[in-house]
Amino acid sequence: MKDASPQTIYLKDYKPFGYVVESVALVFDLHPTATRVTSTIRFAPNPEATDRTFFLDGEELTLISCAIDGQPVTPELSETGLRLDAPDAPFTFEAEVEISPETNTALEGLYMSNGMYCTQCEAEGFRKITYYPDRPDVMAVFDVTIRGPLPVKLSNGNPLEAPEGQARWHDPWPKPAYLFALVSGDLVAHADRFTTRSGREVELNLWVRPGDEGKCAFGMEALKRSMRWDEDVYGREYDLDIFNIVAVDDFNMGAMENKGLNIFNSAAVLASPETSTDANFERIEAIIAHEYFHNWTGNRITCRDWFQLCLKEGLTVFRDSQFTSDMRSAPVKRIGDVIDLRARQFPEDQGPLSHPVRPESFQEINNFYTATVYEKGAEVIGMLKRLVGDAAYAEALDLYFDRHDGQACTIEDWLKVFEDVTGRDLSQFKRWYSQSGTPRLKVDETFENGTYRLTFTQETPPTPDQDEKLPQVLPIAVGLIGPNGHEVLPTTLLEMTEATQSFEFPNMATRPVPSILRGFSAPVVLERETSREERIFLLDHDSDPFNRWEANRALAQSSLLTMITDPNEGPDRSWLTALLGVIRDPALDPAYRALLLNLPSQSELAQALHERGVTPDPDLIWSAVEEHRNARAELWQAQLPALAAETRVDAPFSPDAEQAGKRALGAAVLAMQSRFDGGTAARAVYASADNMTLQLSALTCLITAGVAEDALAAFEDQWRHDRLVMDKWFGVQIAYAPPQHAPERAAELTEHPGFDWKNPNRFRAVFGALVANHAAFHRGDGASYDLLADWLIRLDAKNPQTAARMCSAFQTWRRYDSQRQEKIRAAMERIAATDGLSRDVTEMVTRLLG
Ligand code: PHE
Ligand code: ZN
Repeated sequence: MKDASPQTIYLKDYKPFGYVVESVALVFDLHPTATRVTSTIRFAPNPEATDRTFFLDGEELTLISCAIDGQPVTPELSETGLRLDAPDAPFTFEAEVEISPETNTALEGLYMSNGMYCTQCEAEGFRKITYYPDRPDVMAVFDVTIRGPLPVKLSNGNPLEAPEGQARWHDPWPKPAYLFALVSGDLVAHADRFTTRSGREVELNLWVRPGDEGKCAFGMEALKRSMRWDEDVYGREYDLDIFNIVAVDDFNMGAMENKGLNIFNSAAVLASPETSTDANFERIEAIIAHEYFHNWTGNRITCRDWFQLCLKEGLTVFRDSQFTSDMRSAPVKRIGDVIDLRARQFPEDQGPLSHPVRPESFQEINNFYTATVYEKGAEVIGMLKRLVGDAAYAEALDLYFDRHDGQACTIEDWLKVFEDVTGRDLSQFKRWYSQSGTPRLKVDETFENGTYRLTFTQETPPTPDQDEKLPQVLPIAVGLIGPNGHEVLPTTLLEMTEATQSFEFPNMATRPVPSILRGFSAPVVLERETSREERIFLLDHDSDPFNRWEANRALAQSSLLTMITDPNEGPDRSWLTALLGVIRDPALDPAYRALLLNLPSQSELAQALHERGVTPDPDLIWSAVEEHRNARAELWQAQLPALAAETRVDAPFSPDAEQAGKRALGAAVLAMQSRFDGGTAARAVYASADNMTLQLSALTCLITAGVAEDALAAFEDQWRHDRLVMDKWFGVQIAYAPPQHAPERAAELTEHPGFDWKNPNRFRAVFGALVANHAAFHRGDGASYDLLADWLIRLDAKNPQTAARMCSAFQTWRRYDSQRQEKIRAAMERIAATDGLSRDVTEMVTRLLG
């Protein structure tokens, strides 16, 4: 399908384009299989470039005609674009091309989803719409005319007058082509208004297919809160007369920040209490905020090239996490983010796909929308803020917006504003952008003559892409606690820059207990031999909510590891007793208590064993976790009814943090009860549930208890007409299935009439759940590996981007025993040998096979 030997693109080869674009006018005549796109583009020589090669990117386009300054020309055409001899003076380029949105299953460029036209251009999709210098450093003002049969016609910017049956849009803000968007469909709007703090009236619309009107209110409220928050916290106002959001059912990612016209995966915006869980509401709020915040961090200031992706993504993730912390509970958000970082970014950074936050080469940029670029990228910004302090951070951001508005920037530009504001030299800090891998931090301590000393040693193991690692700047937040549980040193930021470095704390009456890396102040693996007693002490006394949770996490992990490695061992009862005391504390936020009940994932346990030189056995891990859960439920049995009563919500449903926290704790309690009551309590909750959070948590309890047949059938009956809810139905059956049935059940579900595998949400519902079910995915007979490989091969022919993203399921393969490794290798080699495999998947399996 694509080139057999894909090219590698390097950061060091960056060159500006030979021409600047002064303006772009596009006319779309929409048709499912023969859309005509006419472009009129004003080019002028770029004084900053030396190379005047005039090459316009273009893929899968049929060129109808082409002219320069009104004179027809015959360009040189290739699979990737068009070349012409262009004047060394300003000129007008015109082209007409034909494209076929209906047959575009890759969901990149202009495509159709449930009868509506929509676009996805990031990163390099605009070249599937027309010939253009499709690179983020070429910014231009766009004027768009849309003609077509469907009533709603949207593009970026503000609407202009247009004849009947047409729409015209003008976007006054110069932008790269990846922020272009067009939507046309039979849509209805949930409309609202927002007045910016300087008095600009903004029309807000959330466009959905008829029938989904009832799922818009929450997203709209989240949008207005985001707009206000960005004014209050970052001083950033919205800059157009209208802001449109469109919900689309077929979408590769969560959402896209196109200027003034955000396009969302419907799963990332549509919500109602009956159909969405609390987790869905929280995620939707965060994604709405994320895309809105891109208006300044991404759109007004964009990236010079795709290597700088973290410039917009790391910063925008950081901003959306600040927003969520302000809207909800900051400690709960922080713990959730760290769970996520360890589950997704650490394995990436410690395996064959490891790459720096700012990669230096790629074959397919779509493969670099990763947890490293996004989540580690956000951690890097959090560290920077911790190091310079809140006031300097705010000043640096103001300078960034002032200095770089309207530009396409680099990480160097970003760091320079911090250097200019603080006078600091950030050259060592910059290693966070160029060095891959997760640093490991060891701690030694001494106590002599009233002086307590902490000695840290940092080391980053080599990664496949880089052998040598240099010391990084590590902000280490530390507190010290006296033996009576009182803090003797409140949180203090230590700044580590050397490979080994000591910090002294004089005048201590007694040896303190340290609380290290409070708030997870740096994305590292902390390796410190700590006794169980000390961890229980921290669980009881640490004033830092993150480290209190972390102490419990470590206790859970070590108890589980003991059970895995020695099948005669039971769970650590003295820890469970201490934990129960904390869980029963009514003064503690229920959401936080629910997090204390959350166990390390089985994949995390496998990694921990691997790091201790033990080959993880997924079956043993599974049984140990099961045994632990059964034992815990039994041990706490008598206290569960009182806890359950505490989590009852009597007020009408609201997705706010307070109610959601109660429901989260309630779900954890119900899961424990279902371990010994045969599903009685869960069945009652299921029968009376009036919201999806309760309904789904009861359903998962019934699946785990093996008594869900009736409920699953009833659920399907109730929700068969709701795609988003049916994604849950597909997913939970696999995610909670016992390993001995999960791959077979997944294969069965692919035969279900509702398994529309070309829809990324549905494909991920089944296969994402299978991958997440650790023991099922790694079942010894390799059934899941083979099933996933079959389907990735099939999907790749239609949608390379989503297929490639799912290849990361194999990234931890080298942890496991040689039989499993051989089975995974065979599956990956079978994928690699597929005829016509996309560049996306080719790059992924090549890196994975290493
Ligand atoms: N830029 C989008 C975001 O982070 C993600 C995205 C990337 C969406 C590529 C589609 C395609 O908000
Ligand atoms: Zn983003």
